[in-house]
Amino acid sequence: MAHRIAIIGGDGIGPEVTAEAVKVIRAAGVQFDTTEFDLGGARYLRDGEVLSDRVLDELRGFDAILLGAVGTPEVPPGLIERGLLLKMRFELDLYINQRPFAGTAAGQSEAHDFIVIRENTEGPYVGEGGVLRRGTADEVATQGSVNTRMGVERCIRYAFELASTRARKHVTLVHKTNVLTFAGDLWQRTFDIVAADFADISTAYNHVDAACIYFVQDPHRYDVIVTDNLFGDILTDLGGAVSGGIGLASSANLNPARTGPSMFEPVHGSAPDIVGTGKANPIAAILSAALMLDFLGESGAADRVRAACANPGSGTTSEIGNSIAALVAG
Ligand code: IPM
Ligand code: MN
Repeated sequence: MAHRIAIIGGDGIGPEVTAEAVKVIRAAGVQFDTTEFDLGGARYLRDGEVLSDRVLDELRGFDAILLGAVGTPEVPPGLIERGLLLKMRFELDLYINQRPFAGTAAGQSEAHDFIVIRENTEGPYVGEGGVLRRGTADEVATQGSVNTRMGVERCIRYAFELASTRARKHVTLVHKTNVLTFAGDLWQRTFDIVAADFADISTAYNHVDAACIYFVQDPHRYDVIVTDNLFGDILTDLGGAVSGGIGLASSANLNPARTGPSMFEPVHGSAPDIVGTGKANPIAAILSAALMLDFLGESGAADRVRAACANPGSGTTSEIGNSIAALVAG
C-alpha cells in the first residue's frame, strides 16, 4: 500500500527543501501519495488560519507528515510556532523528538555518532504561566515547566530501548539537577528506575552546561542522550553546529505508540533571508525524509537515501536534490 504523506512546506525555505525531499524519496522507489497543506505564516497573513481543529483532524488520517519550516518575520514570534508546530507536537502526542548527529567536530580526530532524544510534549514548552501588569514598572512574568512522571518515563524508556539496538549501549541523561532541583530530581529518579530494567546498558549524567563543552570538545563520548524539551532544543542546535552544520541536521517528531501520524522536519528554521536564492541546503530535509522512511518500515530505501547524502555534489538547492535523487535511483 502506498504511504499517505501530508506535506506542510510552511514558510521561507521550507517549501523549497521539502520539494527536494519528496523528489529524493520518489527516486528511491517508495510508493506514496502526497497531499499538500497550505499552512504557515503566509497563510495566516492571508486569512488568519494557523491550524484549525478540522485541519488537525484531517492530518490524523495520514501515515506521516513532512514539514519544511515555520516562522516568518511579518508575524509576531511564537504565533505560528505555537499555533502550528507545537500544536501538532502536543495534539498528535509526538512525545519523542529524535535528532541524530554524526561527523567530526572541528579540532577532533575521532568521529562522533550520537542521537539526542528530546522530550517533546512537556517542559517549558507547554506555555504554563502568564503576565500581570504588562508594560508597567510592576510587570510580573512567570513561565513554568511541566514534568510528569508518565511523560518523563516514556521518553527515558524510549531512549534506553533505542540504545539497546545500538553497538555502544550507552545512555546519558542531560539536565540541570543542581539548580532545577524539583524537575531534575524527577528526571534523575525516573532515569535510575528505568536503567534498572536495562542491565546491559551503561549510563552517565551530565549537567547541560557541561554537556555544551563536551559537545564541542569530546562529542564521541556520547551514544544516546536523553533530555528535556528546552535543553534538547538548545543542545541540538549545537549538535548540528559540530556535525557539519545545521544544514545537515534532521529530526523526527515521533508518536511511538502510533496512535496517529509522526512528523518529520529539518532542525533548521525558515531562513527568510535566503528564500528563492537556491542557497538553501536541502540535505537536512532529505535526511528527515529518510527518518520518515525508517518509521514507515522502508529502512532499505532510507539507508540508500542516507548513503547518497554522503556525496551530495554541489550547486543550488534543486541541483543538490537532483544529484542525490540520481544517486538514490542508481
Ligand atoms: C526546533 C525549533 C522549534 C522548537 C521552534 C520553531 C518552536 O527551534 O524544532 O528545534 O523550539 O522546538
Ligand atoms: Mn530549535
